[in-house]
Amino acid sequence: MELIWKDCWNTGIDTIDAQHRSIMNYINQLGHVALGRKPQVPTLLDDDAAEAMHYAAFFGSLATAEFGYVLDEFIRCVEDHFAHEEQLHVEDTYQLSAPHKETHDLFLVRIKKYQADYNQGVDNAEKLFRILNKWIEQHIAYDMDLMASVKRCRLSDGV
Ligand SMILES: [Fe+2]
Ligand SMILES: [Fe+2]
Repeated sequence: MELIWKDCWNTGIDTIDAQHRSIMNYINQLGHVALGRKPQVPTLLDDDAAEAMHYAAFFGSLATAEFGYVLDEFIRCVEDHFAHEEQLHVEDTYQLSAPHKETHDLFLVRIKKYQADYNQGVDNAEKLFRILNKWIEQHIAYDMDLMASVKRCRLSDGV
């Protein structure tokens, strides 16, 4: 169930590939927490005890706080990544920028709804993890066309 990076996910744009890898790592962390295994990457208690207390107080327990914390970080990472991709649209006058941005916006609305439900005490962690596990592959596949356009554009500019 753990996501492992595939060569076919490399877009050839280094910043984008690094961001996609970070997103994949967050999904794996969410999976470890949701499925009751210890996260491979240290998250809450190892980082900042005060922040851990804050999350634990909000979620009622550290076990649920861990997922909420990683989900927060995941969404922040995805928002930064989408903003970066959308900046590439503008720079390269990508023809499909509007529908591409729409897929980003729709995804964030959907995920934030799950997040809001989770924060209200709905036990949707495992379901959300399974959705994200499938989503990343679709997301990267959809990005390929944009990144090919960026590369063509950079080649023609001699960058
Ligand atoms: Fe992407
Ligand atoms: Fe995208």
